[in-house]
Amino acid sequence: MKKPLFITFEGPEGAGKTSVLQALIEELKPILGDDLVTTREPGGNPISEAIRDILQPTEDNGMDGRTEALLYTAARRQHLVEVILPALEKNKVVISDRYVDSSLAYQGGGRGLGVENIWQINQFAIDGLLPDLTIYLDVPSELGLARVKANRQSKIDRLDKEALSFHQTVRQTYLKLQREFSDRIKIIDATQSLEKVIDDTHALIFNALDIPKE
Ligand SMILES: Nc1ncnc2c1ncn2[C@@H]1O[C@H](COP(=O)(O)OP(=O)(O)O)[C@@H](O)[C@H]1O
Ligand SMILES: [Mg+2]
Repeated sequence: MKKPLFITFEGPEGAGKTSVLQALIEELKPILGDDLVTTREPGGNPISEAIRDILQPTEDNGMDGRTEALLYTAARRQHLVEVILPALEKNKVVISDRYVDSSLAYQGGGRGLGVENIWQINQFAIDGLLPDLTIYLDVPSELGLARVKANRQSKIDRLDKEALSFHQTVRQTYLKLQREFSDRIKIIDATQSLEKVIDDTHALIFNALDIPKE
């Protein structure tokens, strides 16, 4: 088995990242045991959590877009140093729900700050540590939002509709990144049944881990 390995999950809200990851953990735990570390930004460390609190205020605090991008990037750095790197140093397999591509898609694309600008600040933060494999779950924005809403038992409201173009830009940016870094970022059609999305993800991850098929 190739180890250590760093795998990330990307895609919009409602793409199925949490559901698919949950299923994959069930499959991988019996094989990898303590060698499997799953995490999600901000990674449950106090510094990143504190930064998150600043990023998610109860009311609009007038935060500048670049300030926001720098804070997300700072939170990522601390999660990397406290959670991801120590695990990789112990030869573990690390799977993270979101990482650098989220900033590129959301702040670079969605917020219009420029993917190149966001890439530059993130390069400083991650210091070259890109994932070995990124699973990008692709869904049209309407479907992702509808799934999230259905979960909340309410219809898509006016605010969500206003946000639609933001989410569409996020998706287009993810798609562009996937084409540009197609060796690292693998796209999965997440409009398929959850079972099929899990199967497709399984195939990619087991291949990356060199786990033979039964
Ligand atoms: N392929 C799928 N088909 C139908 N529903 C799905 C699919 N993937 C996820 N869902 C549902 O969509 C909602 C959001 O899924 P979730 O895994 O939380 O997405 P994410 O973590 O990407 O935001 C959940 O209610 C989940 O059951
Ligand atoms: Mg999720």
